[in-house]
Amino acid sequence: MESSMKSFTLGFVHHLKAFKVFLECSTEYMCMEKFIDENLPNIIVSIGKKGGSSLNVLGVGSGSGKIDFEILNKIQSKCPGLSIHNEVVEPNPEQISSYKELVKEKGPGLNISFTWNQMRSEEYEKQNKERNENKKFDFIHMIQMLYFVESIHDTIKYFHSLLETNGKFLIITVSDNSGWHPLWKRFGFHFPSNSLFLDVCKTLDEMGMKCQIHELPSDINITECFIEGNEIGELLLDFLTGTVHFRETAPADLKTEVLQYLRQPQCSREENGKIFFNNNLHAIVIDY
Ligand SMILES: C[S@@+](CC[C@H](N)C(=O)[O-])C[C@H]1O[C@@H](n2cnc3c(N)ncnc32)[C@H](O)[C@@H]1O
Repeated sequence: MESSMKSFTLGFVHHLKAFKVFLECSTEYMCMEKFIDENLPNIIVSIGKKGGSSLNVLGVGSGSGKIDFEILNKIQSKCPGLSIHNEVVEPNPEQISSYKELVKEKGPGLNISFTWNQMRSEEYEKQNKERNENKKFDFIHMIQMLYFVESIHDTIKYFHSLLETNGKFLIITVSDNSGWHPLWKRFGFHFPSNSLFLDVCKTLDEMGMKCQIHELPSDINITECFIEGNEIGELLLDFLTGTVHFRETAPADLKTEVLQYLRQPQCSREENGKIFFNNNLHAIVIDY
């Protein structure tokens, strides 16, 4: 029965469609923008070589570049006079095109150059090693992308090794205190991919890496998930369960249980007749 459920991480198209709906229904970007405005300046205060004239930044899993671009803007405004070279690693061609459009529109006048790597982080690592590249970066970030890598441990280890002296490495993922953890702990086993359940802090701890953690409050309005046939609700359900067409393909008992569980206080709160899923994030900062 469960074999008819397909993981949406297998195809870019459905995943992107569901991701866009999730962005519209959540405060995901709003809370990241607040973090970039209020916390990032203190984090980047020490990056870069003393007396240097440029900074190297690396974005991994950049998507459409919306948040990456805000990070670049913030770095530029805090380090006026320094040029920035920004490398992008993003496998989805549609997302890279959107990012390039954004740069075309908002980039002129900024002292930022770009290198585009349309590939997965694993391929980027392989390519660097084959070319014997000794690249170093002052700031590296992975925003909501670690769910999709082959090994979190190896990915963190490799990208941390690319940090320049005084560099900072920022990882943003869902928080242990969000509704994602109980949902995936309880049902992840039944979902077609278990990739959304990860514990970055535990991995960092096992690796002996010290980090600072910022909790970013966020929620998703999932009210429409409970209206059968509602397109937005169906796409949100797909996003929450990592499944293509969850409502059509999941066994009936699993569907009922998931829908009931989504409204429980472990996952959501009810306010003015609306249901808000806890989407709190962790912004994890790792030093050189
Ligand atoms: C949830 S989106 C987040 C995009 C962006 N960082 C944001 O917050 O809007 C995850 C992104 O990671 C990319 N991705 C998936 N697997 C990847 C991998 N192995 N290496 C690099 N990027 C990957 C996807 O194409 C997608 O754009």
